[in-house]
Amino acid sequence: MASVAGRRIALIGGAGFIGHNLALRLKQLGAAPFVVDSLAVNNYYSIKEGADDIPNASLYLKIIEQRLDLLRQHDIPLVEVDSRDYHRLSAAMARFDPDAVIQLAAVAHAGKSNKDPYSTFDHSLRTLENALDASRSPRLHVKHFIYFSSSMVYGNFIEGIVTEETPCEPLGIYGALKYAGEKMVIAYNQVFGVPYTIVRPSALYGERCVSRRVGQIFIENALAGLDISINGDGSERLDFTYIGDLVSGIVCVLEHENSRNQIFNLTYGQSRSTAEMADILTKSKAREKNAANVPANGTYPRTDMPTAAATSCCSAMNISKYLSGCALANSSR
Ligand SMILES: NC(=O)c1ccc[n+]([C@@H]2O[C@H](COP(=O)([O-])OP(=O)(O)OC[C@H]3O[C@@H](n4cnc5c(N)ncnc54)[C@H](O)[C@@H]3O)[C@@H](O)[C@H]2O)c1
Repeated sequence: MASVAGRRIALIGGAGFIGHNLALRLKQLGAAPFVVDSLAVNNYYSIKEGADDIPNASLYLKIIEQRLDLLRQHDIPLVEVDSRDYHRLSAAMARFDPDAVIQLAAVAHAGKSNKDPYSTFDHSLRTLENALDASRSPRLHVKHFIYFSSSMVYGNFIEGIVTEETPCEPLGIYGALKYAGEKMVIAYNQVFGVPYTIVRPSALYGERCVSRRVGQIFIENALAGLDISINGDGSERLDFTYIGDLVSGIVCVLEHENSRNQIFNLTYGQSRSTAEMADILTKSKAREKNAANVPANGTYPRTDMPTAAATSCCSAMNISKYLSGCALANSSR
């Protein structure tokens, strides 16, 4: 096992929900993370520009300012670069000469991807190809490339639980591009020998998220003391995963040499229905304290999405010693 202490780690798209939480943990463990982010996709500039149409935009801007403050307070450099620009991305990477690169940049929302495939391709696949190509440069010393894919590559979960061996049948633009990205990462390994790990997270929730997925909207409404309303009958099951567990999983992946050239589901590993999640939050202390007894301001329109359930993390547990720990009921406290 090689500790992350002292290692230089590039987080491309690292000012987002997952990236800034990961950067903070890596710094705490003695690594030298640095963030490359345009702050323009589901982040400061896009929210500011679209403020009139985005529910809770002023709250989200404050949350993002809090992320940026935390990065500053912990001396984590943030380079504001659009990674669709190969030359600017390469220059930023050359400045820090990372030994690991983590590619998070994307349009990280299935509904938005289906609405705007053109820019999703650019922000997700163009940025990935640039990051891969910059990482193979002989001027740099990249020994590990970690790619954020998604459990959406599986499409409909026919079996109820999927392992990494389950065939991928992505549905929609987001899943298809994630799967294409996985193939590109593997191809770069075949052709140029860049060691990789592909991770497939699912339905994350936790601190400082502004992505307006089901978990976040429910939590936001609970904290504001609002009702939690569900679109549909609430039977849809998702493998809700706490951000802290995912971050621990990435640390395991970085630390264990044998995680190279592997694909891992990094999730909680059990599914809960949206009705169960709503119920847990309705009974949570935070909601009771703030109860306003008014209807929620946002529901979750999930119309063109695959049906999902649980993903097995056995492979990550065996190879990278990953342990998911945080069940929904515990995190709601
Ligand atoms: N959050 C989840 O539940 C979840 C689940 C599965 C997979 N993922 C994947 O994990 C990754 C991170 O997700 P997240 O939840 O942190 O999303 P996020 O939207 O919070 O963060 C993505 C970040 O990438 C940046 N970015 C996008 N295009 C860029 C570009 N061209 N140049 C520079 N920066 C750019 C954005 O500004 C943003 O800060 C994504 O690839 C996403 O698809 C997330």
